[in-house]
Amino acid sequence: LDDLLAEGVSGRRVLVRADLNVPLRHTEESVTVTDDGRIRAVLPTIRALAEAGAHVVVCSHLGRPKGAPDPKYSLAPVAARFSELLGAPVAFATDTVGESADTVTASLAAGEVALLENLRFNAGETSKDDAQRGEFAAKLARYGEAYVDDAFGAVHRKHASVYDVPKLLPHFAGGLVVRELDTLSTLTSDPKRPYVVVLGGAKVSDKLGVINNLLPKVDALLIGGGMCFTLLAAQGHGVGDSLLEADQIDTCKQLLAEAGAKIVLPTDVVVAGELSATAATRVVGVDAIGAGDKGLDIGPETTRAFAAKLADAATVFWNGPMGVFEYEPFAAGTKAVAEAVAGAGFSVVGGGDSAAAVRALGVDEASFSHISTGGGASLEYLEGKTLPGVAALEA
Ligand code: 3PG
Repeated sequence: LDDLLAEGVSGRRVLVRADLNVPLRHTEESVTVTDDGRIRAVLPTIRALAEAGAHVVVCSHLGRPKGAPDPKYSLAPVAARFSELLGAPVAFATDTVGESADTVTASLAAGEVALLENLRFNAGETSKDDAQRGEFAAKLARYGEAYVDDAFGAVHRKHASVYDVPKLLPHFAGGLVVRELDTLSTLTSDPKRPYVVVLGGAKVSDKLGVINNLLPKVDALLIGGGMCFTLLAAQGHGVGDSLLEADQIDTCKQLLAEAGAKIVLPTDVVVAGELSATAATRVVGVDAIGAGDKGLDIGPETTRAFAAKLADAATVFWNGPMGVFEYEPFAAGTKAVAEAVAGAGFSVVGGGDSAAAVRALGVDEASFSHISTGGGASLEYLEGKTLPGVAALEA
């Protein structure tokens, strides 16, 4: 972005790919953004371009519509919040590359900002077919003389707006993308030790790649959340009605055998017969999970053990909640872990759910070294995978 600003953007049209994929609450009267962290994270780039006199055309995906317009996934409510946070109007185009987008972008004055409707209302955005993606990318590229990618949360997607547009326009990394990559690279290059990683979330199958890649580099890997039950089952524990990926048990057995003492699993969990805000809960040892029990949070003994490991850590990466924190009876583990992570020397929160948990549970955002805006993207980076969006910027 600094290079582009140094070239000068006054009077030039700049197409910015942002990740404005934020959670929404739909009621009969209104649709509201419930966590605007991703919008706030891209504001410095938008402001810098607008203040330098660019015509700023922003595009983003929201959710996973099926390649056609679907009002549930409209970016219109996001445009409203974006405008409030920016403190300036955001002109909203009701399509992505059609008549409305043509009119709205053509009438932008220097220093003004527009947002196009959801990229994923167009099948070409996510298509596996290079030609179909290329065709959509060409339509999108008409709105910019330069392209800035500041959608860190989407750089792991080989999508038209991320991978193909930069082939058609002079392309630049936005400040957020640069900051995210700089931070994550310190986790892979030379982290200060002890280096502790905390993983949670629903599925162990989603995290096996990152676990395998991180194990040789970390001093301890603490695992909670729904994914811990498949590992506990691999250790021979009964897990009752908890989340279980039965087809991953053998892989987990092998993983535990190879990891030795580096992987730290819960010793107790909070269980209930149902997932609800008023559920009756019990704390049980992991060898005493009953047949009808659903494990929905880590227990207090585990929380203390995790917090003690984190208290000694110089570097921490955390991805994934420890329990179903959206429900008060199952939020304590995630909150305590978030606070313990925040106390580490260098603390990075990876993405979506964990970043949302930090804000929802009222943990001070400023107490972390970095809260990533990319869930999948930060994990794929730490997995050592090539990120298509970054590769496209480097080409
Ligand atoms: C995310 O929420 O991780 C990003 O916005 C990417 O969304 P996706 O997983 O639907 O591609």
